[in-house]
Amino acid sequence: MNLRIPGPTPCPPEVLAATAREMVDHRGPEFGSALKRVSSGLKEAFRTANDVLILTASGTGGLETAVVNTLSPGDEVLAVSIGNFGDRFASIAKTYGADVTKLAFPAGQAADLAAIDEALGKNSRVKAVLVTHNETSTGVTNPLQQIAEIVRRHDALILVDAVSSMSSIPCDVDAWDLDVVVSGSQKGWMVPPGLAFVSFSPRAWQANESARMPRFYLDARKAKESLEKNQTPWTPAVSLVFGMEVALDMLEAEGWANVYARHQRCADLARQGAQRLGLKLLADPAFASNTVTAVWSPEGVNVSELRKILREQYDTVVGGGQGDLTGKIFRIGHLGLVHEADVQAAIDALAQALPKAGYAPVAAARG
Ligand SMILES: Cc1ncc(COP(=O)(O)O)c(C=O)c1O
Repeated sequence: MNLRIPGPTPCPPEVLAATAREMVDHRGPEFGSALKRVSSGLKEAFRTANDVLILTASGTGGLETAVVNTLSPGDEVLAVSIGNFGDRFASIAKTYGADVTKLAFPAGQAADLAAIDEALGKNSRVKAVLVTHNETSTGVTNPLQQIAEIVRRHDALILVDAVSSMSSIPCDVDAWDLDVVVSGSQKGWMVPPGLAFVSFSPRAWQANESARMPRFYLDARKAKESLEKNQTPWTPAVSLVFGMEVALDMLEAEGWANVYARHQRCADLARQGAQRLGLKLLADPAFASNTVTAVWSPEGVNVSELRKILREQYDTVVGGGQGDLTGKIFRIGHLGLVHEADVQAAIDALAQALPKAGYAPVAAARG
């Protein structure tokens, strides 16, 4: 099956074999060395000297960890949202009692730097800015480095959802001075869902000392203290940590620069392929994501029907739209274990499925 959704992503057989290993004592030396290896690999991937916590949780659990460990109820938060996952980050902060101001931008657009600067300039009480690096619901990558520079000037924390970018698109935690950064195993890491990775800067740990939002399972300090002993506070997803060991070996052997370049090539192919079929892309081309491409469904084509034809007749699975974009777009995932041939195969399948869904592609799928 050509699984072209933006996560969970296909896993290499070597990773799947590692996840099928027999259990070990999660307080013993074997698991300790696996956790240590994954922890150091994550630091390299995040390009940080900060702690990178390994939690048994999905990406949302990582976002919740970022919020509850740095903030107190009543704290003012600026939530920059360019789509569904930006909205979710804002909702988490609201749920725990933060005073959230949402700065939302239209679907397909990146966040506007001047608007962020203005919002922070108007309110010096903002304690933290929440921002999505790569908005999976629209296929847009925010200019995170520039956003971070603005946030830094206004002396607020920057909490980043890098769930669908980290490991596939450069995200330089220390050079960009990012405070809390979250990713999830089922995206570019080529591992099944179930682990969240969360880096904390010294500034974030300082905020943690006075942060009063309630937390127990997601207490980052407990995770940090355990990680120092190559353990986790609670029983971890042992199998996924074994999978991560192998996945990191593979990604590091390829070389991070090559991994990023491969994602760029696959994304270029997805965008060009869809456009060659006469389809329109949702994302502003200047900020189009290298991990997911959102495509407007052509007039008269039912997205569910198109996805069904792709799945049943061409063994190809693409994502649908989320929220307001449900029924209007479909999304092609190209992250993790993905090569040009996989993307081309998806475009070829699309070229054949579209006429069956009521749309005649304007050109052949291959250029
Ligand atoms: C940008 C982004 N943020 C957050 C999440 C939520 O992660 P999860 O579904 O693992 O909880 C996702 C997952 O699709 C995502 O793509």
